[in-house]
Amino acid sequence: MKTILGLNAVFHDSSAALLVDSRLRVLAEEERPSRVRHAKRAGVDNTPVLPYLAIDEALREAGLDFSRVDLVAYSFDPAARLAALGRAPAEADIPEGDYGTPEGERRFHDFILLTGALLKARYGREVPVRFVPHHDCHMAAAYHSCPWDETALLCVDGIGEDDTCTWGRWRGGALEKLGRLEYPHSLGFLWERVTQWAGLTPNLEEGSTMAMAAYGDPARFRAALRRVLEPLPDGTFRVDPALARFRAPDVRGFEELLGPRRLPQETLLWQGADRRHADAAAALQELTEEVLRGLARRVRQDAGLPRLALAGGVTLNCLGNSAVARDGAFDEVWAFPAAKDCGTAFGAACLAAGAEARREEWLHAYRGPAPAAGLVGKALAEARLEAPSQGGEALIAQGAELLEQGKVLAWFEGAAETGPRALCHRSLLADPRQAAMRDRLNLEVKHRQLFRPYGPVVREEDADEYFDIPAGLRRACRFMLAAVPVKARMKSRVAAVVHGDGTTRPQLVSKSSHPRLHALLGEFGRRTGVPVLVNTSFNDREPIVDSPAHALATYQRTRIDALVLEDRLLVKKPSPVQAGR
Ligand SMILES: [Fe+2]
Repeated sequence: MKTILGLNAVFHDSSAALLVDSRLRVLAEEERPSRVRHAKRAGVDNTPVLPYLAIDEALREAGLDFSRVDLVAYSFDPAARLAALGRAPAEADIPEGDYGTPEGERRFHDFILLTGALLKARYGREVPVRFVPHHDCHMAAAYHSCPWDETALLCVDGIGEDDTCTWGRWRGGALEKLGRLEYPHSLGFLWERVTQWAGLTPNLEEGSTMAMAAYGDPARFRAALRRVLEPLPDGTFRVDPALARFRAPDVRGFEELLGPRRLPQETLLWQGADRRHADAAAALQELTEEVLRGLARRVRQDAGLPRLALAGGVTLNCLGNSAVARDGAFDEVWAFPAAKDCGTAFGAACLAAGAEARREEWLHAYRGPAPAAGLVGKALAEARLEAPSQGGEALIAQGAELLEQGKVLAWFEGAAETGPRALCHRSLLADPRQAAMRDRLNLEVKHRQLFRPYGPVVREEDADEYFDIPAGLRRACRFMLAAVPVKARMKSRVAAVVHGDGTTRPQLVSKSSHPRLHALLGEFGRRTGVPVLVNTSFNDREPIVDSPAHALATYQRTRIDALVLEDRLLVKKPSPVQAGR
């Protein structure tokens, strides 16, 4: 038996994957047990922080210990990074010792090379470490989870070694790279900077920028943004480094183009007469879709294959994925749920396994660890709560009844989802029929901006009645990775999940991918006539809950009304005020 430990630790979204006998056994994200969003901040000095909790969780899940690991595959190639130093145009205002400076890059390189020694110090055993180019890892992960033996590939993120966008194909059992862009030509960094200009946290709140886009007018800043990033006739794009200044700490170039940045105490302008932050987001979204369409056409031409697998953090942009699919360059688009850097641990392990690595279509994303046996009972005992185990049908009936009553129901079950979307193993569920539910979730439960949308979960067989899902995007809808229009006649029936632009990002479940949720949707539909639920991540401004103890703590601390914890149901008693209403 050969065991390969894939590691992503270079920037953020640290993770560990175990490939046992050429198959993915588990892909664990460090942010879940550590409770730190994205696990760590990308920074030269954070490089040696390895995802030990994720490694330990992955080994536990696989029933192995570190002595069984034959090879470590690390999703970044420090030699390639160092070789690229000096290739990008000179950039002013980079902080001393940071990425992009000779001393910073040397330290970054040396820190990465410590990986083997750090693992030996922790686990007492030396294991060979193989460094694998970052974008190869993104693309390998997308390929090994996709439905096709051969496929075109497109990876778009902030940066790998110095690649920012790579494309190619998987054919004849191997990855062939056909083209690349390099720093500073980065669409991912453009998102980080506009997010920063809008006074939001870069690398954390790009989802808010994307959500705001629906409320803005792209015309206001269309020309301005194209001065930073210009799409080119060959399908690629060019960034003006003097305006972008991606490695400078401030956003002066963007202030020149878009006006003063928003300060923390200032209002985020997304509604009313002046919607400048939403307008910038809308221009960015429009430009992103144009760039992704251009890239996809280029990839189609270069790769000569009719299907496309997407990878890299930018491909978490649901509207962008939909734009690519609707443009028609490809018959079908695969979107990988762990498209951000956490998925590269899986890709690195696959590439290290070589021809032996098996491709296996992901019918669901429940690839993370499940809680150890006995943890549910232990967490309940520690919280001094009682909830008997009960049969599936009774629990489904009670859950549907609570949802019909307008309760917010947390759902915790089995192995964790991999990637940023909660897909009903660690989700909050609610009745979608009234728009007020969205506001209640945003204001009272999730504490998010009012414009943040919610997606629905729906049974595969009911999806087309409510949503306009192109055939080429259907698989992306397993993972909430495509934005699709809500059918006009259904908007009022699922008002809480209709975004400002009339779209939504559904999760489709089948009886085999999630039998209990499938049954719950059926029962809710039988009661209400609407077999659809609001689905959002089970958390409150933290990483998605990981253990039964996190689930219980979040349930108790927030205004979540009820919790399905594996086969148990907990329901809060209404307060006297609520009871009186
Ligand atoms: Fe990446």
